Amino acid sequence: MENSNSKHIVIGITGGIAAYKSLSLIRLFKAAHYEVKVVATKNALEFVTKLTIETLSQNKLYYDSFESPEQYSVEHITLADWADLVIVAPATANCIGKLTHGIADDALSTLLLAFTKPIFMAPAMNCNMYQHVAVQENIAVLKNRGVHFIDPTGGFLACGYEGKGRMEEPENIFRIVTEFLNNQNQFKGIKALVTAGPTYEPIDPVRFIGNHSSGLMGFAIADALAQQGAEVTLITGPTHLQTGRAIHQRIDVQTADEMFNEVMKYSDQQQLFVMAAAVADYTPKTKAPQKIKKKEQELVLELTKTKDILATIGHQKKSDQCVVGFALETENELQNGSEKLQNKKADFIVLNSMNNNDAGFNKPTNQVTILSKNGVVFESEVKTKQQIADEIIQTVYQNFFIP
Ligand code: CTP
Repeated sequence: MENSNSKHIVIGITGGIAAYKSLSLIRLFKAAHYEVKVVATKNALEFVTKLTIETLSQNKLYYDSFESPEQYSVEHITLADWADLVIVAPATANCIGKLTHGIADDALSTLLLAFTKPIFMAPAMNCNMYQHVAVQENIAVLKNRGVHFIDPTGGFLACGYEGKGRMEEPENIFRIVTEFLNNQNQFKGIKALVTAGPTYEPIDPVRFIGNHSSGLMGFAIADALAQQGAEVTLITGPTHLQTGRAIHQRIDVQTADEMFNEVMKYSDQQQLFVMAAAVADYTPKTKAPQKIKKKEQELVLELTKTKDILATIGHQKKSDQCVVGFALETENELQNGSEKLQNKKADFIVLNSMNNNDAGFNKPTNQVTILSKNGVVFESEVKTKQQIADEIIQTVYQNFFIP
Protein backbone atom coordinates (compact mmCIF):
# COMPACT_ATOMS: atom_id res chain seq x y z
CA MET A 1 0.00 0.00 0.00
CA GLU A 2 1.25 3.49 -0.78
CA ASN A 3 2.51 5.42 2.21
CA SER A 4 0.99 8.91 2.08
CA ASN A 5 4.41 10.53 2.67
CA SER A 6 6.18 8.46 0.07
CA LYS A 7 8.17 9.94 -2.75
CA HIS A 8 7.77 8.64 -6.26
CA ILE A 9 10.92 7.20 -7.79
CA VAL A 10 11.48 5.99 -11.32
CA ILE A 11 14.37 3.59 -11.74
CA GLY A 12 15.63 3.47 -15.31
CA ILE A 13 17.48 0.27 -16.16
CA THR A 14 19.68 0.12 -19.25
CA GLY A 15 21.47 -2.84 -20.79
CA GLY A 16 24.50 -3.78 -18.76
CA ILE A 17 25.41 -6.69 -16.51
CA ALA A 18 24.98 -4.37 -13.51
CA ALA A 19 21.23 -4.44 -14.27
CA TYR A 20 20.94 -7.31 -11.79
CA LYS A 21 22.02 -4.90 -9.01
CA SER A 22 19.10 -2.61 -9.89
CA LEU A 23 16.82 -5.28 -8.48
CA SER A 24 18.38 -4.68 -5.04
CA LEU A 25 17.92 -0.96 -5.58
CA ILE A 26 14.20 -1.46 -6.20
CA ARG A 27 13.98 -3.55 -3.00
CA LEU A 28 15.80 -0.91 -0.94
CA PHE A 29 13.42 1.84 -2.05
CA LYS A 30 10.34 -0.35 -1.57
CA ALA A 31 11.47 -1.36 1.92
CA ALA A 32 11.79 2.32 2.81
CA HIS A 33 8.20 2.96 1.60
CA TYR A 34 8.99 4.75 -1.61
CA GLU A 35 6.70 4.21 -4.59
CA VAL A 36 8.80 2.76 -7.40
CA LYS A 37 8.10 2.44 -11.11
CA VAL A 38 10.66 0.99 -13.48
CA VAL A 39 11.44 1.86 -17.07
CA ALA A 40 13.72 -0.60 -18.79
CA THR A 41 15.36 -0.52 -22.19
CA LYS A 42 15.06 -3.47 -24.54
CA ASN A 43 18.65 -4.50 -23.80
CA ALA A 44 18.09 -4.29 -20.05
CA LEU A 45 15.47 -7.02 -20.39
CA GLU A 46 18.19 -9.34 -21.72
CA PHE A 47 19.70 -9.20 -18.21
CA VAL A 48 16.66 -8.99 -15.91
CA THR A 49 13.09 -10.13 -16.45
CA LYS A 50 9.86 -8.19 -16.61
CA LEU A 51 8.29 -10.54 -14.07
CA THR A 52 11.05 -9.99 -11.48
CA ILE A 53 10.88 -6.20 -11.88
CA GLU A 54 7.09 -6.10 -11.63
CA THR A 55 7.08 -8.38 -8.59
CA LEU A 56 9.67 -6.30 -6.76
CA SER A 57 8.32 -2.86 -7.70
CA GLN A 58 4.67 -3.94 -7.40
CA ASN A 59 4.02 -1.83 -10.44
CA LYS A 60 3.73 -2.35 -14.15
CA LEU A 61 7.05 -2.20 -16.03
CA TYR A 62 7.43 0.46 -18.71
CA TYR A 63 9.45 -0.74 -21.67
CA ASP A 64 9.55 -0.74 -25.42
CA SER A 65 7.01 -3.30 -26.33
CA PHE A 66 4.71 -0.74 -27.89
CA GLU A 67 3.73 -1.21 -31.44
CA SER A 68 3.41 2.49 -32.08
CA PRO A 69 5.85 5.03 -30.67
CA GLU A 70 2.93 7.44 -30.05
CA GLN A 71 1.85 5.26 -27.16
CA TYR A 72 5.00 5.71 -25.15
CA SER A 73 5.20 9.34 -26.07
CA VAL A 74 2.01 9.80 -24.01
CA GLU A 75 3.10 7.52 -21.17
CA HIS A 76 6.41 9.29 -20.70
CA ILE A 77 4.59 12.53 -19.91
CA THR A 78 2.38 10.83 -17.32
CA LEU A 79 5.43 9.17 -15.75
CA ALA A 80 7.39 12.44 -15.84
CA ASP A 81 4.59 14.15 -13.90
CA TRP A 82 4.30 11.26 -11.44
CA ALA A 83 7.99 10.90 -10.50
CA ASP A 84 9.85 13.11 -8.03
CA LEU A 85 13.20 11.79 -9.18
CA VAL A 86 14.65 9.44 -11.79
CA ILE A 87 17.67 7.21 -11.18
CA VAL A 88 19.26 5.55 -14.18
CA ALA A 89 21.18 2.57 -12.84
CA PRO A 90 23.06 1.21 -14.58
CA ALA A 91 23.55 4.04 -17.06
CA THR A 92 25.31 2.84 -20.21
CA ALA A 93 27.47 5.03 -22.47
CA ASN A 94 24.63 4.83 -24.99
CA CYS A 95 22.02 6.14 -22.58
CA ILE A 96 24.32 8.97 -21.39
CA GLY A 97 25.05 9.88 -25.02
CA LYS A 98 21.37 9.94 -25.95
CA LEU A 99 20.40 12.30 -23.15
CA THR A 100 23.35 14.58 -23.95
CA HIS A 101 22.26 14.89 -27.56
CA GLY A 102 18.51 14.97 -27.07
CA ILE A 103 17.76 11.62 -28.66
CA ALA A 104 14.44 10.09 -27.63
CA ASP A 105 13.94 6.76 -29.33
CA ASP A 106 12.67 4.55 -26.54
CA ALA A 107 10.61 4.76 -23.35
CA LEU A 108 13.53 5.69 -21.06
CA SER A 109 15.22 8.27 -23.27
CA THR A 110 11.83 9.87 -23.98
CA LEU A 111 11.05 10.06 -20.26
CA LEU A 112 14.45 11.60 -19.50
CA LEU A 113 13.93 14.37 -22.05
CA ALA A 114 10.49 15.16 -20.67
CA PHE A 115 11.67 15.14 -17.06
CA THR A 116 12.37 18.49 -15.36
CA LYS A 117 13.06 17.23 -11.81
CA PRO A 118 16.32 15.72 -10.47
CA ILE A 119 18.00 12.97 -12.47
CA PHE A 120 20.70 10.69 -11.05
CA MET A 121 22.87 8.48 -13.22
CA ALA A 122 25.04 5.62 -12.00
CA PRO A 123 27.26 4.72 -14.95
CA ALA A 124 28.50 1.17 -15.49
CA MET A 125 30.63 0.14 -18.44
CA ASN A 126 34.03 -1.09 -19.54
CA CYS A 127 36.74 1.13 -18.03
CA ASN A 128 38.11 2.21 -21.41
CA MET A 129 34.63 3.17 -22.55
CA TYR A 130 34.15 5.15 -19.36
CA GLN A 131 37.42 7.02 -19.85
CA HIS A 132 36.70 7.69 -23.55
CA VAL A 133 36.70 11.39 -24.25
CA ALA A 134 33.24 11.18 -25.83
CA VAL A 135 31.72 9.66 -22.67
CA GLN A 136 33.60 12.04 -20.38
CA GLU A 137 32.53 15.05 -22.45
CA ASN A 138 28.92 13.86 -22.42
CA ILE A 139 29.04 13.44 -18.63
CA ALA A 140 30.52 16.94 -18.27
CA VAL A 141 27.71 18.42 -20.40
CA LEU A 142 25.03 16.62 -18.40
CA LYS A 143 26.60 17.63 -15.06
CA ASN A 144 26.53 21.17 -16.33
CA ARG A 145 22.81 20.81 -16.98
CA GLY A 146 22.28 19.64 -13.42
CA VAL A 147 22.24 15.85 -13.83
CA HIS A 148 23.75 14.14 -10.77
CA PHE A 149 26.33 11.42 -11.37
CA ILE A 150 27.17 8.64 -8.95
CA ASP A 151 30.64 7.68 -10.12
CA PRO A 152 31.48 4.07 -10.85
CA THR A 153 34.04 2.34 -8.66
CA GLY A 154 37.23 0.51 -9.59
CA GLY A 155 37.80 -3.25 -9.60
CA PHE A 156 37.31 -6.30 -11.77
CA LEU A 157 34.74 -5.78 -14.49
CA ALA A 158 32.48 -8.39 -16.03
CA CYS A 159 34.27 -7.85 -19.36
CA GLY A 160 37.54 -9.12 -17.84
CA TYR A 161 39.20 -5.72 -17.52
CA GLU A 162 40.21 -4.13 -14.25
CA GLY A 163 39.51 -0.42 -13.77
CA LYS A 164 36.89 2.21 -13.05
CA GLY A 165 33.56 1.12 -14.48
CA ARG A 166 31.68 -0.93 -11.89
CA MET A 167 28.34 0.53 -10.93
CA GLU A 168 28.30 1.86 -7.37
CA GLU A 169 26.71 -0.59 -4.91
CA PRO A 170 22.89 -0.28 -4.60
CA GLU A 171 23.16 0.51 -0.85
CA ASN A 172 25.36 3.53 -1.64
CA ILE A 173 23.13 4.71 -4.49
CA PHE A 174 20.15 4.41 -2.16
CA ARG A 175 21.95 6.39 0.58
CA ILE A 176 23.08 9.18 -1.79
CA VAL A 177 19.63 9.56 -3.34
CA THR A 178 17.70 9.46 -0.06
CA GLU A 179 20.07 11.98 1.53
CA PHE A 180 19.46 14.21 -1.47
CA LEU A 181 15.68 13.80 -1.17
CA ASN A 182 15.73 14.49 2.56
CA ASN A 183 17.63 17.72 1.99
CA GLN A 184 15.46 18.77 -0.91
CA ASN A 185 13.55 21.95 -1.44
CA GLN A 186 15.45 23.83 1.24
CA PHE A 187 15.18 26.98 -0.86
CA LYS A 188 11.52 26.55 -1.81
CA GLY A 189 9.76 29.90 -1.86
CA ILE A 190 13.07 31.79 -1.92
CA LYS A 191 13.92 34.10 -4.79
CA ALA A 192 17.63 34.07 -5.61
CA LEU A 193 19.66 36.23 -7.96
CA VAL A 194 22.95 34.83 -9.24
CA THR A 195 25.54 36.68 -11.32
CA ALA A 196 27.97 34.66 -13.42
CA GLY A 197 30.64 34.82 -16.10
CA PRO A 198 32.95 37.62 -17.19
CA THR A 199 32.04 41.07 -18.41
CA TYR A 200 33.27 42.53 -21.70
CA GLU A 201 34.11 46.23 -21.61
CA PRO A 202 34.17 47.64 -25.15
CA ILE A 203 37.17 49.62 -26.40
CA ASP A 204 35.84 50.05 -29.94
CA PRO A 205 33.30 48.12 -32.06
CA VAL A 206 35.59 45.06 -32.31
CA ARG A 207 37.72 45.03 -29.15
CA PHE A 208 37.00 44.68 -25.47
CA ILE A 209 38.62 44.19 -22.07
CA GLY A 210 37.52 40.83 -20.68
CA ASN A 211 38.72 38.02 -18.44
CA HIS A 212 38.99 34.23 -18.38
CA SER A 213 35.91 33.52 -16.28
CA SER A 214 33.95 30.64 -17.86
CA GLY A 215 30.79 31.17 -15.80
CA LEU A 216 30.90 27.52 -14.62
CA MET A 217 30.83 28.31 -10.89
CA GLY A 218 27.94 30.77 -11.13
CA PHE A 219 25.93 28.46 -13.40
CA ALA A 220 26.53 25.52 -11.03
CA ILE A 221 25.28 27.62 -8.10
CA ALA A 222 22.22 28.76 -10.05
CA ASP A 223 21.43 25.13 -10.90
CA ALA A 224 22.01 23.91 -7.35
CA LEU A 225 19.67 26.57 -5.98
CA ALA A 226 17.01 25.82 -8.58
CA GLN A 227 17.25 22.09 -7.81
CA GLN A 228 16.59 23.01 -4.18
CA GLY A 229 13.42 24.82 -5.14
CA ALA A 230 14.63 28.45 -5.39
CA GLU A 231 13.21 30.75 -8.05
CA VAL A 232 16.48 31.70 -9.73
CA THR A 233 17.23 34.76 -11.82
CA LEU A 234 20.61 34.27 -13.49
CA ILE A 235 22.33 37.37 -14.83
CA THR A 236 25.34 36.37 -16.87
CA GLY A 237 28.11 37.94 -18.88
CA PRO A 238 29.17 36.39 -22.21
CA THR A 239 29.51 32.59 -21.99
CA HIS A 240 28.72 29.57 -24.12
CA LEU A 241 27.12 27.76 -21.19
CA GLN A 242 23.52 26.67 -21.36
CA THR A 243 21.14 27.03 -18.46
CA GLY A 244 19.51 24.09 -16.73
CA ARG A 245 15.78 23.84 -17.21
CA ALA A 246 14.93 24.60 -13.62
CA ILE A 247 16.24 28.18 -13.88
CA HIS A 248 13.35 30.69 -13.70
CA GLN A 249 14.92 33.35 -15.92
CA ARG A 250 18.26 34.09 -17.55
CA ILE A 251 19.37 37.56 -18.55
CA ASP A 252 22.42 37.95 -20.78
CA VAL A 253 24.55 41.07 -20.51
CA GLN A 254 27.90 42.23 -21.85
CA THR A 255 29.24 44.97 -19.61
CA ALA A 256 29.59 45.66 -15.89
CA ASP A 257 27.22 48.57 -16.29
CA GLU A 258 24.54 46.41 -17.92
CA MET A 259 24.98 43.78 -15.19
CA PHE A 260 24.63 46.48 -12.53
CA ASN A 261 21.40 47.76 -14.09
CA GLU A 262 19.84 44.31 -14.42
CA VAL A 263 20.75 43.36 -10.85
CA MET A 264 19.20 46.59 -9.55
CA LYS A 265 16.05 45.99 -11.57
CA TYR A 266 15.39 42.70 -9.75
CA SER A 267 17.05 43.39 -6.39
CA ASP A 268 13.97 44.33 -4.33
CA GLN A 269 12.27 40.96 -4.68
CA GLN A 270 15.26 38.75 -3.85
CA GLN A 271 16.10 37.05 -0.55
CA LEU A 272 19.44 35.72 -1.73
CA PHE A 273 22.17 37.22 -3.93
CA VAL A 274 25.14 35.17 -5.08
CA MET A 275 27.63 37.34 -6.94
CA ALA A 276 29.84 34.86 -8.73
CA ALA A 277 30.53 37.04 -11.78
CA ALA A 278 34.05 38.22 -12.49
CA VAL A 279 33.00 41.82 -13.04
CA ALA A 280 35.55 44.17 -14.61
CA ASP A 281 36.75 46.70 -12.06
CA TYR A 282 37.58 49.20 -14.83
CA THR A 283 36.03 50.09 -18.16
CA PRO A 284 37.28 52.33 -21.01
CA LYS A 285 36.17 55.90 -20.39
CA THR A 286 34.87 56.14 -23.92
CA LYS A 287 34.05 53.58 -26.57
CA ALA A 288 35.59 54.64 -29.89
CA PRO A 289 32.78 54.79 -32.49
CA GLN A 290 35.05 53.29 -35.19
CA LYS A 291 37.78 50.65 -35.00
CA ILE A 292 40.91 52.29 -33.58
CA LYS A 293 43.67 52.35 -36.19
CA LYS A 294 47.25 51.38 -35.44
CA LYS A 295 49.40 54.38 -34.55
CA GLU A 296 53.12 55.03 -34.58
CA GLN A 297 53.14 55.87 -30.88
CA GLU A 298 51.83 54.03 -27.86
CA LEU A 299 48.13 53.86 -27.36
CA VAL A 300 46.92 55.01 -23.96
CA LEU A 301 43.51 53.86 -22.83
CA GLU A 302 41.82 55.85 -20.11
CA LEU A 303 39.81 53.66 -17.76
CA THR A 304 37.18 54.56 -15.22
CA LYS A 305 35.99 52.49 -12.29
CA THR A 306 32.86 50.39 -12.70
CA LYS A 307 30.14 50.40 -10.07
CA ASP A 308 30.63 47.64 -7.52
CA ILE A 309 27.45 45.55 -7.75
CA LEU A 310 28.18 43.43 -4.68
CA ALA A 311 28.98 46.43 -2.50
CA THR A 312 25.89 48.32 -3.68
CA ILE A 313 23.62 45.38 -2.89
CA GLY A 314 25.44 44.74 0.40
CA HIS A 315 25.00 48.33 1.56
CA GLN A 316 21.32 48.54 0.70
CA LYS A 317 20.25 45.06 1.82
CA LYS A 318 17.61 44.44 4.46
CA SER A 319 18.24 42.07 7.36
CA ASP A 320 16.31 39.20 5.75
CA GLN A 321 18.32 39.44 2.54
CA CYS A 322 21.46 37.34 2.27
CA VAL A 323 24.41 38.46 0.16
CA VAL A 324 27.23 36.14 -0.95
CA GLY A 325 30.31 37.50 -2.72
CA PHE A 326 33.38 35.85 -4.18
CA ALA A 327 37.02 36.77 -3.87
CA LEU A 328 40.21 35.69 -5.52
CA GLU A 329 43.21 36.68 -3.44
CA THR A 330 46.85 35.95 -4.14
CA GLU A 331 48.19 36.91 -0.70
CA ASN A 332 46.85 37.28 2.86
CA GLU A 333 43.79 35.40 1.68
CA LEU A 334 41.85 35.28 4.95
CA GLN A 335 42.60 38.84 5.97
CA ASN A 336 41.81 40.31 2.55
CA GLY A 337 38.71 38.12 2.33
CA SER A 338 37.33 39.28 5.65
CA GLU A 339 38.10 42.92 4.78
CA LYS A 340 36.11 42.42 1.57
CA LEU A 341 33.26 40.93 3.64
CA GLN A 342 33.18 44.02 5.85
CA ASN A 343 33.74 46.62 3.14
CA LYS A 344 31.09 45.23 0.85
CA LYS A 345 28.74 44.34 3.74
CA ALA A 346 28.34 40.76 2.48
CA ASP A 347 27.07 37.96 4.71
CA PHE A 348 29.51 35.48 3.16
CA ILE A 349 32.64 35.66 1.05
CA VAL A 350 33.62 32.58 -0.92
CA LEU A 351 37.41 32.61 -1.22
CA ASN A 352 38.69 30.85 -4.32
CA SER A 353 41.92 29.06 -3.65
CA MET A 354 44.91 30.18 -5.69
CA ASN A 355 47.14 27.50 -4.16
CA ASN A 356 45.89 24.62 -6.20
CA ASN A 357 46.39 24.01 -9.91
CA ASP A 358 43.11 22.09 -10.07
CA ALA A 359 41.06 25.00 -8.78
CA GLY A 360 39.81 28.25 -10.17
CA PHE A 361 39.23 30.16 -13.39
CA ASN A 362 38.16 28.20 -16.43
CA LYS A 363 38.64 24.83 -14.72
CA PRO A 364 35.97 22.19 -14.00
CA THR A 365 37.10 21.91 -10.37
CA ASN A 366 37.46 24.34 -7.51
CA GLN A 367 38.45 24.63 -3.86
CA VAL A 368 36.93 27.25 -1.60
CA THR A 369 36.92 28.65 1.91
CA ILE A 370 33.76 30.41 3.08
CA LEU A 371 33.97 33.35 5.48
CA SER A 372 31.24 35.00 7.48
CA LYS A 373 31.43 37.62 10.22
CA ASN A 374 32.17 34.69 12.55
CA GLY A 375 35.30 33.74 10.61
CA VAL A 376 35.81 30.59 8.53
CA VAL A 377 32.53 28.65 8.33
CA PHE A 378 33.48 26.12 5.68
CA GLU A 379 36.55 24.75 3.92
CA SER A 380 36.19 22.46 0.93
CA GLU A 381 38.45 19.94 -0.73
CA VAL A 382 39.14 20.11 -4.47
CA LYS A 383 35.87 18.99 -6.07
CA THR A 384 33.82 19.53 -9.20
CA LYS A 385 32.17 22.93 -9.39
CA GLN A 386 28.76 21.22 -9.09
CA GLN A 387 29.81 19.62 -5.78
CA ILE A 388 31.30 22.91 -4.57
CA ALA A 389 28.06 24.68 -5.57
CA ASP A 390 26.06 22.24 -3.43
CA GLU A 391 28.42 22.82 -0.50
CA ILE A 392 28.23 26.60 -0.86
CA ILE A 393 24.44 26.66 -0.84
CA GLN A 394 24.32 24.20 2.07
CA THR A 395 26.66 26.44 4.07
CA VAL A 396 24.55 29.49 3.27
CA TYR A 397 21.39 27.62 4.17
CA GLN A 398 22.72 26.36 7.50
CA ASN A 399 24.27 29.68 8.54
CA PHE A 400 21.55 32.05 7.35
CA PHE A 401 18.24 30.45 6.39
CA ILE A 402 17.75 27.79 9.06
CA PRO A 403 15.09 29.18 11.38
N1 CTP B 1 32.06 42.52 -7.90
C1 CTP B 1 30.92 43.21 -8.28
N2 CTP B 1 31.01 44.34 -9.02
C2 CTP B 1 32.22 44.82 -9.40
C3 CTP B 1 33.40 44.13 -9.01
C4 CTP B 1 33.28 42.99 -8.26
O1 CTP B 1 29.81 42.78 -7.93
N3 CTP B 1 32.28 45.93 -10.13
C5 CTP B 1 31.91 41.34 -7.06
C6 CTP B 1 32.26 40.04 -7.73
O2 CTP B 1 31.15 39.45 -8.37
C7 CTP B 1 32.73 39.20 -6.53
C8 CTP B 1 33.33 40.21 -5.58
O3 CTP B 1 32.79 41.47 -5.99
O4 CTP B 1 31.63 38.62 -5.86
C9 CTP B 1 34.82 40.25 -5.53
O5 CTP B 1 35.38 40.99 -6.50
P1 CTP B 1 36.96 41.25 -6.55
O6 CTP B 1 37.24 41.64 -7.95
O7 CTP B 1 37.72 40.12 -5.99
O8 CTP B 1 37.10 42.38 -5.53
P2 CTP B 1 37.45 43.84 -5.76
O9 CTP B 1 36.51 44.61 -4.95
O10 CTP B 1 37.48 44.11 -7.21
O11 CTP B 1 38.88 43.99 -5.12
P3 CTP B 1 40.31 43.58 -5.69
O12 CTP B 1 40.18 43.34 -7.17
O13 CTP B 1 41.13 44.71 -5.33
O14 CTP B 1 40.67 42.32 -4.96
